[in-house]
Amino acid sequence: MINELMALVTKHEEWRGTECLNLIPSENIMSPAVRRLLSSDLAHRYTARDRFYMGTRFTDEIEQYGEKLAREVFKTEAADLRPLSGHIADLIILANYTKPGDTLMCVSPQDGGYPGMWNEGLAGLLKLKTNAFPFSKQNWNIKPEDAEEIIMNVKPKAVIFGASLIVFPHPVKELAKVARENGAFVGFDGSHVMGLIAGEQFQDPLREGAHALFGSTHKSFFGPQGGIILADKEHGEFLKERIYPAFVDNAHWNRIAALALALAEIKQFGKAYATQIVRNSQALAKALSDYNFPVICQPRGFTRSHQVIVDWGDYDRGRAIAERVQRANIIVDCVVRIGTCEVTRRGMKENEMLRIAEFLKRLVVDEEQPNMVRKEVTRLGSEFQKIEYCFAE
Ligand SMILES: Cc1ncc(COP(=O)(O)O)c(C=O)c1O
Repeated sequence: MINELMALVTKHEEWRGTECLNLIPSENIMSPAVRRLLSSDLAHRYTARDRFYMGTRFTDEIEQYGEKLAREVFKTEAADLRPLSGHIADLIILANYTKPGDTLMCVSPQDGGYPGMWNEGLAGLLKLKTNAFPFSKQNWNIKPEDAEEIIMNVKPKAVIFGASLIVFPHPVKELAKVARENGAFVGFDGSHVMGLIAGEQFQDPLREGAHALFGSTHKSFFGPQGGIILADKEHGEFLKERIYPAFVDNAHWNRIAALALALAEIKQFGKAYATQIVRNSQALAKALSDYNFPVICQPRGFTRSHQVIVDWGDYDRGRAIAERVQRANIIVDCVVRIGTCEVTRRGMKENEMLRIAEFLKRLVVDEEQPNMVRKEVTRLGSEFQKIEYCFAE
């Protein structure tokens, strides 16, 4: 039994870790040093805000160190590293700034919004009414003028920017003022674009009028799986008081130590990393489009994020393609939304994007047998095993 379990993990590590090209935009890869901190002794420990547990003196310092780094990276007055995931960060925000019956305005899942925030997710749980941002599929973005009118009429209690399918900055600058004036809390769920924001290559929600930026730390941000909240002093201090014990009791201190190191990495290397992500996405999008893949937003340059969205028109077709390319060790989701964060972190640049586009073309357009392409995919992956944008060990 135990041997079987160990063998399964080893097989997974060999396959996903060394043989596959991972193009899932929700995923990334940690540096070896960050990964080591995840299995440090901190993984076994408790602390509590009321000082119930002894033995926490270094844990407390690690948390303060991480929060300080987060404040520096995101140029903000308050940071909290305790949310266990992006979803829990969303919950902390919505539960503290809305009450049952209030209206939440965000991107609908039909337009690439996060389903976990919508009716079946947090909005349903918290008994919120949902009102979708008017959305242009052609520009793949919120329509600011129409949204302004709805905000003035409906007066939502929370206006949350950010989405799961996001290729261009959202119009925070255009809408935050009117949302605030009409009594809304203005937030940005940066789960997907956190690494690009940290590297100053996307948009800067906290300077554009958002009260808080929050979300995952493991998509374009290359930390351990988890969540983070960044906010101005007033909102940050308010939230800090409310996280324990309702949303997080014991935080995961190993993750927080690992996140602190990832923050140090992104502080040092974030600009170069995020710049290369955008270059890689644009190179990949153009090459795929040249091969007649239906990449969205060609007139706008396809993308300014870590995502390239290929619109196959229906989910079943997307799934069939995702399954086909998986047989060649290329991992994507079923949308098909292609992400460049992990391959960028492994040091790939525009030339490698052209090779990836060619693999995808051979599999999808030429319908070449996946096992014919697989060896070349694995060979390319094996040339890029070293993790870049981190400190030399
Ligand atoms: C926009 C957005 N917010 C939140 C989440 C939830 O993040 P996590 O998986 O860290 O809970 C996701 C997940 O994919 C997401 O796309």
